Amino acid sequence: MAKPIIEIKDVHFSYTTAEGVAPVVLDGVTLDIAEGSFVAVLGHNGSGKSTLAKHMNAILLPSGGAVYVDGIGTTDEERLLDIRRTVGMVFQNPDNQIVANVVEEDVAFAPENLGVPPEEIRQRVDDALKAVGMYEFREHAPHLLSGGQKQRIAIAGVIAMQPRCIVLDEPTAMLDPIGRADVLRTIKTLNRERGVTVVLITHHMDEAAQADRLVVMAKGKVVADGAPKEVFQQVEHLKAVGLTVPHTTELLWQLRQEGFDVPLDALSDEECALALKTLLDSRTK
Ligand SMILES: Nc1ncnc2c1ncn2[C@@H]1O[C@H](COP(=O)(O)OP(=O)(O)OP(=O)(O)O)[C@@H](O)[C@H]1O
Ligand SMILES: [Mg+2]
Repeated sequence: MAKPIIEIKDVHFSYTTAEGVAPVVLDGVTLDIAEGSFVAVLGHNGSGKSTLAKHMNAILLPSGGAVYVDGIGTTDEERLLDIRRTVGMVFQNPDNQIVANVVEEDVAFAPENLGVPPEEIRQRVDDALKAVGMYEFREHAPHLLSGGQKQRIAIAGVIAMQPRCIVLDEPTAMLDPIGRADVLRTIKTLNRERGVTVVLITHHMDEAAQADRLVVMAKGKVVADGAPKEVFQQVEHLKAVGLTVPHTTELLWQLRQEGFDVPLDALSDEECALALKTLLDSRTK
């Protein structure tokens, strides 16, 4: 098997605050991210998701254990630029990530800082804007765009650095449903068509359901890890760590509690509807 693009090995972490060392935030996390995969991370508020994300491109360094990006230890200061080029980060608030007054200048900002030659920058910016479906807005002012469009510009800025992996920390949290859908579609296209590895931290079950793999965190530990269909079937377990399950799973789970024979793995609306139809048909015979 190919080497994982990110290897997280028994990572422990505590923030150092003015009052001294704060409580443990990551408590022995071990996780490999396979190149080309789309991994979603779910977890209750404060479970350590953002802290974990920041370990994936050396914004934070582990207090114990180790993180490797493409085989490079994140504590290797001389390789910091290689690490940041390999794994790009997108954050929750698009307004904090926009730095220029024209869309294409904003997208050019990071590659310019990386010392990419000007003629290549033009190509990368156009390509990145096309990848997020915002090419026709290249001469617009970013602050006049919608939240979803701004977030796609922020993603384009990261794509222009040509990272092999993007880590997105709740990129849709501040968006309306249309912006949310656009951003998710963009992320999926980058993964499926360009082979970019995606780590998506989210509070939205419907987004997590679309990943290849779902990692659930609670109190600084990984408490579930598998295909979304498998993980969401662990209804009691997820409820115990403060999470809900998708409405489809919840409905089927409630029916099963009442003794009805329905499958718990019908995750999409269509699969769930089919499961209900099968149940109804079997009772009217
Ligand atoms: N800079 C910081 N200094 C001190 N403590 C922090 C800092 N950032 C986060 N924490 C604490 O670390 C714990 C984990 O925070 P983290 O932001 O990683 O959780 P999260 O799962 O991303 O939460 P959310 O869903 O709210 O984004 C929390 O208890 C939080 O208060
Ligand atoms: Mg967070």
